Amino acid sequence: MISAAVHAKDVNIAIVGGGLMGREIAAAIQRWPALIDHPVRPRLTAVCDINPDALAWFDQIDTVTTKVTDYHELVNDDSIDVIYIAVRHDLHEQLYVDTISAGKSLLAEKPFGIDRAASETILAAARAHPESFVRCSSEIPFYPGAQWAINYVRSGALGRILEARNSFRHSSDLDVNKPLNWKRQNKYCGKAGVMNDLGLHVWHVPLRLGWHPERVYGVLQNIVAVRPGLSGELEPCDTWDNAVIHSWARHDGCEFPLTTEMKRIDPGQKNSWEFEAVGLDGGVRFSTSNPKAVDVFTTADIPGIGREQSWQRIEVGSQSIWPTVTGGIFEAGFSDSILQMWASFLAEREGALGERFGCVRPEEAAFTHRIFDAAILSQQSGAAQVP
Ligand SMILES: NC(=O)c1ccc[n+]([C@@H]2O[C@H](COP(=O)([O-])OP(=O)(O)OC[C@H]3O[C@@H](n4cnc5c(N)ncnc54)[C@H](O)[C@@H]3O)[C@@H](O)[C@H]2O)c1
Repeated sequence: MISAAVHAKDVNIAIVGGGLMGREIAAAIQRWPALIDHPVRPRLTAVCDINPDALAWFDQIDTVTTKVTDYHELVNDDSIDVIYIAVRHDLHEQLYVDTISAGKSLLAEKPFGIDRAASETILAAARAHPESFVRCSSEIPFYPGAQWAINYVRSGALGRILEARNSFRHSSDLDVNKPLNWKRQNKYCGKAGVMNDLGLHVWHVPLRLGWHPERVYGVLQNIVAVRPGLSGELEPCDTWDNAVIHSWARHDGCEFPLTTEMKRIDPGQKNSWEFEAVGLDGGVRFSTSNPKAVDVFTTADIPGIGREQSWQRIEVGSQSIWPTVTGGIFEAGFSDSILQMWASFLAEREGALGERFGCVRPEEAAFTHRIFDAAILSQQSGAAQVP
């Protein structure tokens, strides 16, 4: 039935930060008609960037009628309902708190403040302003295969969990001569480095499954310590490049090892997000490297052979949490996961998400900074730390 779009509620969106992610989100919103019977019809009406050249890109989107260089103009604009903010980490606290305090809804970007103190200030603002619906961006779990894996764990099919792993790895920094940018400097990225970049992506699913790490061991590497700056001279590149966090979590009361990996320098990888959980009765594995496939571990009676262990491959197709016009057998990709994340965010804002998977909550985002702090302390002390 293609009818609900007629009754969908209009919601006006503004973007602050018209860089990599600001454009990605703007493009995703243009694909909204792909969603079937969504309760909201978003319109991107306004964009802010301190760089006027970045604003020019948005000329190609007809609904954008406001372009400004000072975000206060959007925060104070009564016509705007929701603001998505994608700026440097050191700017998160001020911009998020100002947006929340003005009563606007906010889809924040990770890492939800540059450090634990900033994230707790943002969390306090969100609690003080319940009229502002606040969530944090983490799109990869909205891949159909990731949803399949999450639902499989929730079904109890794994039995007692033996171990789980969630990783996000790329090799964008393999070239040691790649110029320095804000993401590679502690003062802009934060002292958690790669954990601030990739950490929320690998903790969203574990935390939503109720896997809160009780003890944390951090294994952190700063592999490339200097990079060419704007002048061409070598400058300090002081962020952690790779981080592995080993931890103990609990499922149905039983402890199990939970590992998260966040790597900028992992040769051969290009934005590969992987989730794997194995239990006594079953297992499940999904990687964005193979977006249609979910591997499921089971034991089966094979005629003439007997009981065998086997990993089986299931092709999951295109559908995630919100139905789309896309053919069910087609495959999904990064921009589909962004669209699904926004479908989840705006549906939850209307109280219409139901049991579907939701975006990262402020409490979850703030808790990831406790995990990162514990990992840094563990790296320094050589001992496990409690987040
Ligand atoms: N969810 C994801 O997959 C994902 C991927 C990449 C980055 N991010 C996050 O998105 C955020 C932005 O990253 P990016 O890669 O888009 O950065 P970017 O550098 O490409 O873009 C940032 C933009 O913000 C603008 N800006 C700076 N200060 C501003 C201000 N005061 N007001 C308005 N605009 C301002 C800059 O001019 C720039 O155009 C970061 O928090 C980053 O961690 C998320």
